[in-house]
Amino acid sequence: MDSFDLLERTIENCLRINCRSYKPDYIRRRVQSRMRVLQVSDYEAYRHVLLSSPPETNELRDALTINVTRFFRDREVFEVIGREIIPEILSRKSRIRIWCAGCASGEEAYSLAILLWEYLKDHPECSGIVYATDIDRHVLQKAIEGTYDRQAFQEVHPCRVHDHFIPLGDGRYRISPRVKELIRFRYHDLMSGRPISTHLDLIACRNVTIYFTAEEKKRLTAMFHRALSNNGYYVMGKTEYLDRELQDLFEYCNPQEKVLKKLQAEGNR
Ligand SMILES: C[S@@+](CC[C@H](N)C(=O)[O-])C[C@H]1O[C@@H](n2cnc3c(N)ncnc32)[C@H](O)[C@@H]1O
Repeated sequence: MDSFDLLERTIENCLRINCRSYKPDYIRRRVQSRMRVLQVSDYEAYRHVLLSSPPETNELRDALTINVTRFFRDREVFEVIGREIIPEILSRKSRIRIWCAGCASGEEAYSLAILLWEYLKDHPECSGIVYATDIDRHVLQKAIEGTYDRQAFQEVHPCRVHDHFIPLGDGRYRISPRVKELIRFRYHDLMSGRPISTHLDLIACRNVTIYFTAEEKKRLTAMFHRALSNNGYYVMGKTEYLDRELQDLFEYCNPQEKVLKKLQAEGNR
């Protein structure tokens, strides 16, 4: 075992992640960037820092899990979800169950909950819930706080800012309680193989799997398929695609916005 292998085992123990599930070289590049910051010259020395300095565990986790996100990121896909998908689901059942997987600091989950609230306000007979999960406890805490600077709303229509955010008077805004109460934030590792719940109607997992190996992505897509109800939807990130081997599980219902619909397995059709 060379010094990098040994470091990977230490990372697995400290961060409780599986390094082999990430693309080759991804961990190495992120570790090297931490080593440059700390001016540490070899993997063994960095392993010692990791073992002796608890804050470095958080720093490395932050370096590995890139948390960039925005409200209504890729606005068009949210238009499709609000205009077509939520109404379609709630035309055939009275309660919708949504999972925002890899929600980072909450902007995507709140965007989904805003769309849901706007639908529910005109359809009091319906109800819904958004499970929002991430592996990074740091960003989850920010999501739970639900407080954002003005610049976070660059892509949000001013009417929505007015309707769903409360100005705090110091340049920051807090999400309204009525939107927040539609969401349950939870810690969850997508590589655990277990979904946060089952009988889900819509899973949004966007811009999360870009560093996962092809095998890990396939496992995840199959897990989403199992977690969805019949006719459930899976929304991917703009640059992501469905592996050819999994084309029996989903069909594209909006290829441009990467919205897929669950196909039933052969035996259950
Ligand atoms: C780039 S952000 C994407 C946020 C949001 N989905 C969006 O598209 O704006 C990726 C998020 O995925 C999370 N993530 C990475 N690996 C994960 C895993 N194994 N399980 C759960 N979340 C993970 C990261 O912590 C990060 O917050």
